[in-house]
Amino acid sequence: METQALLCLTLAFLFFSGAHSITFTIKNNCPYTIWPGTLTGAGIPQLTSTGLELASGTSSALDVPANWSGRMWARTQCSNANGKFTCGTADCGSGQVACNGAGAIPPASLVEFTLNGSGGQDFYDVSLVDGFNLPVSITPQGAGCQSTSCPGNVNQVCPPELAVQGSDGSVIACKSACEALSQPQYCCTGDFSTPDRCPPTQYSKVFKDQCPQAYSYAYDDKTSTFTCPTGSNYLVTFCP
Ligand SMILES: *[C@@H]1O[C@H](CO)[C@@H](O)[C@H](O)[C@H]1NC(C)=O
Ligand SMILES: *[C@@H]1O[C@H](CO)[C@@H](O)[C@H](O)[C@H]1NC(C)=O
Repeated sequence: METQALLCLTLAFLFFSGAHSITFTIKNNCPYTIWPGTLTGAGIPQLTSTGLELASGTSSALDVPANWSGRMWARTQCSNANGKFTCGTADCGSGQVACNGAGAIPPASLVEFTLNGSGGQDFYDVSLVDGFNLPVSITPQGAGCQSTSCPGNVNQVCPPELAVQGSDGSVIACKSACEALSQPQYCCTGDFSTPDRCPPTQYSKVFKDQCPQAYSYAYDDKTSTFTCPTGSNYLVTFCP
């Protein structure tokens, strides 16, 4: 009898507290420090951590609600000058490590999640639609779910007209053709605003060649979105 009552209480607690949360482990495999950022989708509160520092080889666990949707990225080459925090790539413009609801300023490699979407599935992808700054992978911890990644270093093959250079002249990020050249055929706007009218371009192919599983432009094919039954935890690795 007592066991049953306890079980009832536990179930009631789980029900009213919105069930369990999901754990995202963010890992920095890069040989340098990174500053990951998170941005929650419209209409839901931001996560308790919207920005953090990860030294090379370290990782950090984030609790996210089971129906979270949003994106993550990593800033590089950050420093504090006169009390203002700024980054060489993927800055969110907040002036501090926490992004507080601000997104990455392109170019930035993005990982995107919709947990508990249609059909009780999590949807996730790596997107280079906003450009590239560093390689990243998503590994679901649930059995039978597929990993996806952008393992290649697009910076090494970035066309000069898309390249962002660091103070030493090396390429530290690669802009999307849409951002760099603002033409409708690269942005899939105007006469190019439907999937069949916006085919891959010489520029999007540079990204796709390095990262076949990632979105390389707005209407990239459906092979770029992955699903896993809701409830899985996720590992996000920068420089996998
Ligand atoms: C997510 O789940 C919580 C708790 O169950 C609920 O309050 C909230 O409205 C849900 N949010 C969305 C976007 O479904
Ligand atoms: C997923 O969403 C469904 C329908 O919105 C809801 O009934 C269910 O409790 C959610 N699951 C989790 C783990 O939040």
